[in-house]
Amino acid sequence: MTPQVKLSALVTRRMPSAVLAPLYSTCDVDLHDHSHPLSHAELCARLVGKHGLICMFNDLVDEVALSAGDKLKAIATVAVGVDNIDVSAAAARGIVVTNTPDLLTGATAELTWALLLAVMRRIGEGDRLVRNGSWRGWAFDLMLGTELRGKQLGIVGSGRIGQAVAAIAPVFGMRAVYAARSERNVRNTALAAPILSLDELLLTSDVVSLHLPLTEDTRHLINRRTLIRMKRSAFLINTSRGGVVDDAALAWALDQRLIAGAGLDVFEDEPEVHSELITRENVCLTPHLGSATRETRTAMAELAVRNVMEVLAGRSAVTPVVSKR
Ligand code: GLV
Repeated sequence: MTPQVKLSALVTRRMPSAVLAPLYSTCDVDLHDHSHPLSHAELCARLVGKHGLICMFNDLVDEVALSAGDKLKAIATVAVGVDNIDVSAAAARGIVVTNTPDLLTGATAELTWALLLAVMRRIGEGDRLVRNGSWRGWAFDLMLGTELRGKQLGIVGSGRIGQAVAAIAPVFGMRAVYAARSERNVRNTALAAPILSLDELLLTSDVVSLHLPLTEDTRHLINRRTLIRMKRSAFLINTSRGGVVDDAALAWALDQRLIAGAGLDVFEDEPEVHSELITRENVCLTPHLGSATRETRTAMAELAVRNVMEVLAGRSAVTPVVSKR
């Protein structure tokens, strides 16, 4: 009789013990009980002998990590984006990769609107003025912003989050349009808004909001060339992934007054933020908070735990990621 192998899993970040309880009942759990990430070297060292991995979007799970985790069967990221994981290399090794789609759609759409409102109605600037004691009282022309009503919201990325953002547009009297980046997209009649070419969307939208995964095709989609196409009065909102925007090009465009402002939740080199974005009054910055509500983060962590447990028990994952290669 072969002795039963005790399963083990690495969890790379602190999370509520109630969420992890089911995992503890079936596995040896190696919990990195901190809110900061492991270094890549530590991640690799702690992956040795592990069957399951619960990780975050900023844990790099590349070939080196996969080789270290030579017993891995399941990688569950507590995120929808999987740009940090070499999904095809994992598939080639027979490792199931899972993510947490759907659950964070509402929270991310809410944050998108919060940034859009904040930058168009100058909420960050106003908050700073009041706090630093420089406010001299009501004035007819104090911090005049841009009204949302009647404006066009250009949504780049027509997946779940893009559609959830579009659904809110009528509440503010905005007209949503999508960018067609593929033929499939052009023919997508399920989208309840007009579909324009990316160029047309950039030329005509008052707000451009990004809802794309980071891939080789989308890296630096927003660059000097595309920023020049935007209206001088337009705002850019990014709650997707930092690399979709070339941050240096954005800083340049703001400096040249080629666009009116930006609301950014994600950055190319987190937690570093381009120094010229930090100093601009017409940029509203949040520290990657898209899915950061108690409700959503708990649901995401619960789903990641369930995914690992299902795969380690020999069953299908609830939300597997399909390798594109
Ligand atoms: C967070 O950034 C995610 O991809 O879920």
